[in-house]
Amino acid sequence: MDIYGNRIFTRRLQLRKIESEDLDLIVNWSTSLIAYGNCLTPENLELKQLGHQLTSGALWNSQEKLFLVAIRESDKPIGTAHYWQSPSKKETATISLKIALPDERNKGYGTELQKFLIMQLFNHKQFQNIEMYTDINNIAQQRCLEKLGFEQTISLAYEDRQVQRTGHLYRLTAEQFAREPIYHYHYE
Ligand SMILES: CC(C)(COP(=O)(O)OP(=O)(O)OC[C@H]1O[C@@H](n2cnc3c(N)ncnc32)[C@H](O)[C@@H]1OP(=O)(O)O)[C@@H](O)C(=O)NCCC(=O)NCCS
Repeated sequence: MDIYGNRIFTRRLQLRKIESEDLDLIVNWSTSLIAYGNCLTPENLELKQLGHQLTSGALWNSQEKLFLVAIRESDKPIGTAHYWQSPSKKETATISLKIALPDERNKGYGTELQKFLIMQLFNHKQFQNIEMYTDINNIAQQRCLEKLGFEQTISLAYEDRQVQRTGHLYRLTAEQFAREPIYHYHYE
């Protein structure tokens, strides 16, 4: 994995720090059912508030980072990835992501970006666990998590922006990460 400054490069993608010129796109996606899919509720972000969050460093600090995900070759933005340190469990990071353009789903990008973000979190940060919540109907994400060595732990009811969902909590520990071949061989 190559990390240059604020970017993570995978074979086909780059994950980079959100800049002010990206805000309109992030806000537009945030109101779109299509961009969020059936298993994630649109956040309906406000441009002004997001701008404040960007300038205050709330979107990029030692506890959390929000990345724009773009095709490496063309720089075309296709989605976002976000991780944050659990406030109650400092050794645990939670990730959420979306490939906002439906035409770009099912091309392996979701797996690829999660793989490299997970490698960054275990190899270069102090995290011992990574957790992901997923709606029980989110077959694509569950398939990604299985490929990435996560184990399903509990099933739970949760509220996602006033939408009641039933989901699974998946976890990858540092020990499982160390044993999982996908992180140590380059398949893509
Ligand atoms: C979930 C998401 C991130 C996955 O990203 P992606 O780039 O589409 O995922 P990948 O192409 O890497 O892998 C998807 C896998 O699911 C499989 N899949 C997708 N839909 C499926 C379905 N309906 N039934 C069975 N398998 C399915 C694909 O075949 C692929 O598996 P394979 O590599 O073994 O063939 C993406 O679909 C997305 O952003 N959705 C909207 C937002 C969202 O749900 N985010 C996740 C919140 S936890």
